[in-house]
Amino acid sequence: MSPSRLRTVRDHIRWAVSRFHEAGLFFGHGTDNAWDDARQLVLGSLHLPFEIADAYLDCRLEEDEQQHLLELIRRRVEDRVPTAYLLGEAWFCGLPFLVDERVLVPRSPIAELIGSQFEPWLPATPMRILDLCTGSGCIGIACAYAFPEAEVVLGDLSFDALEVANHNIERHGLEERVYTVQGDGFDGLPGQRFDLIVSNPPYVDAEDFADMPAEYQHEPELGLACGDDGLDLVRRMLAEAADHLSEKGLLIVEVGNSQVHVEAIYPEVDFTWLEFEQGGHGVFLLAASQCREYQKLFRSRLKG
Ligand SMILES: C[S@@+](CC[C@H](N)C(=O)[O-])C[C@H]1O[C@@H](n2cnc3c(N)ncnc32)[C@H](O)[C@@H]1O
Repeated sequence: MSPSRLRTVRDHIRWAVSRFHEAGLFFGHGTDNAWDDARQLVLGSLHLPFEIADAYLDCRLEEDEQQHLLELIRRRVEDRVPTAYLLGEAWFCGLPFLVDERVLVPRSPIAELIGSQFEPWLPATPMRILDLCTGSGCIGIACAYAFPEAEVVLGDLSFDALEVANHNIERHGLEERVYTVQGDGFDGLPGQRFDLIVSNPPYVDAEDFADMPAEYQHEPELGLACGDDGLDLVRRMLAEAADHLSEKGLLIVEVGNSQVHVEAIYPEVDFTWLEFEQGGHGVFLLAASQCREYQKLFRSRLKG
């Protein structure tokens, strides 16, 4: 790669788009097309905001800036590293988060629910929130902004992920009311109850996992795959949720394409499947009363 005639920001974005198309890259880590991905990579590498006035696109790059950017484009194209990892940063709910290969790149449609403070679903302002399977902490930290009085717990099995989440808590200055707990599912939270439990757990089934584009191989497998039907952890969460929700609490869980498996395993359960204007699917909601009502059934469908 020695594009000697590239000068401006615009030139570099255009050139990157051509290389991305030529290489047949996959886009699914915060962008869904080559233009947005290239714009994010070029502007991010120059420490410029994504929404920049058009006039600035005609500014020229310094030589060292160009060398750095060309190396990032090379790694995006040849190694298929997602742009967010190359920049060490991803945006979620309009907030910046440190991300690296210890955590998934934030992209959950749950962002849209947080943006509308879970309207019309929450019966009252939640005072205790749990983000189970927190990864970078993006969902829980965004909830802390949405509900400034709430205490927020970020749970994850991975110590590596929790290091990133702790960094993001500090970055957002939320140490006083947001904290991390390590554990397998609810194991690290005995006796604790929450008004809102929100989770984007690993849920990719074995078939989808085998077909995932190369970009996903940079993400931790623990954050994606979870047994044949993807629901090993979700089954356990359902069986235990009633013990961790307050009287009128809510459980909101993303299961993506594994929605079909949820519906097949629990045909008796009246899950509310949430709808999204900005894209996304496979997120269900259960009230605490439903978690209590179906707890026996959820327990009876645990594996093994
Ligand atoms: C799909 S990622 C979600 C990360 C983050 N919530 C997001 O939306 O970007 C799932 C996370 O679940 C964690 N995880 C996997 N198995 C777990 C378990 N048994 N108990 C708790 N966390 C688990 C992984 O370490 C990973 O960080």
